[in-house]
Amino acid sequence: MTQLTMAGKTVLITGATNGIGLETALELASQGASIALTARNRNKGEATLEQLRQINANGKHELYLGDLSLMADVRRIAQEFKSKHNTLDVLINNAGGTFDRRQTTSEGLEYTFALNHLSYFLLSHLLLDTLKATANARIINVSSSAQAYGKINWDDLQYARSYSGMGAYFQSKLMNVLFSNALARRLQGSSITVNALHPGVVNTGFGDNSASPLLRIVYSLGKRFAAISSSDGAKTSIYLASSADAAGISGKYFEKQKVKANNPIANDLEAQERLWALSLQIAGLNAK
Ligand SMILES: NC(=O)c1ccc[n+]([C@@H]2O[C@H](COP(=O)([O-])OP(=O)(O)OC[C@H]3O[C@@H](n4cnc5c(N)ncnc54)[C@H](OP(=O)(O)O)[C@@H]3O)[C@@H](O)[C@H]2O)c1
Repeated sequence: MTQLTMAGKTVLITGATNGIGLETALELASQGASIALTARNRNKGEATLEQLRQINANGKHELYLGDLSLMADVRRIAQEFKSKHNTLDVLINNAGGTFDRRQTTSEGLEYTFALNHLSYFLLSHLLLDTLKATANARIINVSSSAQAYGKINWDDLQYARSYSGMGAYFQSKLMNVLFSNALARRLQGSSITVNALHPGVVNTGFGDNSASPLLRIVYSLGKRFAAISSSDGAKTSIYLASSADAAGISGKYFEKQKVKANNPIANDLEAQERLWALSLQIAGLNAK
C-alpha cells in the first residue's frame, strides 16, 4: 500500500475512545495526522487525547464531547469544529452499536437509527462545506457486513411497532451504504470521495451493552474465538483514510481493503433518494 503523507492533515473521527475508532485514530496520528476525536465520556476522551499526544506530539489533537445519538449534540460538535477549522481532510463516521431493547433518545428518535445512521448523515451534511474547501477530502462510513442482511423497514423506519435489535442494526448498516452511495453520486465531479466499509468481526466493546445475559455470552464467545484484534479491524478505515491507492475511488463498499459488492438495495436510486429525503426531514435539514 502506498501511503499518503498525513502530516498537516486533519482527521475527524467519531467514537475514537474504544475499539476500531481508537485504533484508527492512534494509527493515523502515528502517520502524522492531527486527530479531532469525538467522545461521549470526558475521561475516556481525555485519556485518548493523551495517547494521541504521546504518539504524535506535533499533531494538533482535539476533543469534542457529545452524545451522537442526539442531533443537538451533532450540530454543536460540527459548529465547534467549524469555529476552529476552515478545512477537513478526512471525516470518519465510526461511532455505532447494537441495542437489543428498543430505546428512544430525549429527541424522540429510536437509538440505533439516530446513532448509527442519522449522526453519520447529519455530521457529513454539516461539515460538507468544510470538506469541499479541502483538496481531495475523504468521507469514510463504517458500516458492517450486516448490511448484506438488511432491508429498509419503510413503513416503520424506527421500529416503533415491532422492535428487533438485529433488524434495526442490519437496517442501520445498510443505511450507511445507501447514504454513502447517494452522497458519492451528489459529489461526482468534486474532489471529495465517500466510501463505506466492513471492518471485520472485531474484538471490541461491541455488544457489551446487551441487556440479555444470553446475548452477552454469544457476543463474548464470538469475540473470543472468531474475532480479529481492534488494530486489524482498523485496517480498512486506515486504508481509506491514508492510502494513495484509494485516491479518487468513491461510492464503493470495502472489506479487507478491497472493493466488494454490497447489498443491491444500496444501489437502488429510488431507495437512496427516499432515505435521503426522509433523513433530511427527520434531521431537520432544509432540502438541498
Ligand atoms: N466490532 C465488530 O465486530 C464490528 C463489525 C462490523 C461493524 N462494526 C462497526 O464498527 C463501528 C465501531 O464499533 P466498535 O466495534 O469499535 O465498537 P466499540 O468498541 O463499542 O466502540 C464504539 C465507539 O463509539 C462510541 N459511542 C457509542 N455510542 C455513542 C454515542 N451515543 N455517542 C457518542 N459516541 C458513542 C463509543 O464510546 P465509549 O468509549 O464511550 O463507549 C466508542 O468510542 C460501529 O459503527 C460498528 O457498527 C463493528
